[in-house]
Amino acid sequence: MPSPREESPGSRPGDEARALLVDAAHPSPARVYDYLLGGKDNFAADRIAADKIEEAFPAIRIGAQENRRFLLRGVRYLASQVGIRQFLDIGTGIPTPPNVHEVVQAITPSARVAYVDNDPVVMVHARALMTSDPRGEVGYLEADVRRPEFIIGSRLVREVLDFEEPIALLMSAVLHFITDDQGPERIIRTFIEALPPGSHVLATHVTDEHEPRLRSATARYRDDGVRTRPRSAAEFERLVFTGQGLELVPPGVVLVSEWRRDPAEPPPPAPAQVSAYGGLAVLPPGAPSGA
Ligand SMILES: C[S@@+](CC[C@H](N)C(=O)[O-])C[C@H]1O[C@@H](n2cnc3c(N)ncnc32)[C@H](O)[C@@H]1O
Repeated sequence: MPSPREESPGSRPGDEARALLVDAAHPSPARVYDYLLGGKDNFAADRIAADKIEEAFPAIRIGAQENRRFLLRGVRYLASQVGIRQFLDIGTGIPTPPNVHEVVQAITPSARVAYVDNDPVVMVHARALMTSDPRGEVGYLEADVRRPEFIIGSRLVREVLDFEEPIALLMSAVLHFITDDQGPERIIRTFIEALPPGSHVLATHVTDEHEPRLRSATARYRDDGVRTRPRSAAEFERLVFTGQGLELVPPGVVLVSEWRRDPAEPPPPAPAQVSAYGGLAVLPPGAPSGA
């Protein structure tokens, strides 16, 4: 059975020692999201920050759940309908079963997934809990999405993924952590240019278009040290998909709750409760590619 691959920039002490290095005094997006999804891998600072956000935007847990459901529907679609066998999941989050590799390896046991997150807590839990089917492979890289060249060029990603074959780039609920001054357009373009033809990009993004109270939630999160930039459907679509020369897969950019919703699922919540857009697009033949 191939051993899970792991890599982090610089030296990496043992997991226990590493966990002690975690900053438990300040909220982290991964642990706040874990708390909102009902997980247990969070600290008091995360719960306090999440509660403050929830006070301003009471539907935040519904939005988080709908985002997660979209991600799972999207990767299921990619594995079963498109035949994608390789996934680069950036902003993985703390493991929340079912995880991406579990969904896609249930369809294609030999599927390969490279998980990337800049939060050491995510990496500690991922290494402990996200074990690959022996026929496939899973790797973990601690890295910042704002360093796309490092991620694409890393030994870990190159060992897990074959850049000659289509890859699904997943950026679920991570792009709103990239503010305009950090050059989100260039970051996304750098990833896309490295992908071979036939690759896909799946992304979700928080929006305040349907819920004005989300603005005060955003301000509270910023006061706790986490900057976010909600974007409109048009901004998100241009930033990630159409402005990058990608072709959107129907139904295009819609609320995450409305994207290929399974008829067996209950009816979607109101748009204001969801407050997140999602989309999936393909690199058309002839798109710039660094493969
Ligand atoms: C809201 S969670 C989303 C988790 C998962 N992708 C999902 O949609 O269910 C956002 C994740 O992005 C990660 N993240 C935030 N900023 C990041 C950055 N600059 N580089 C890498 N990961 C980042 C956080 O650590 C967290 O795990």
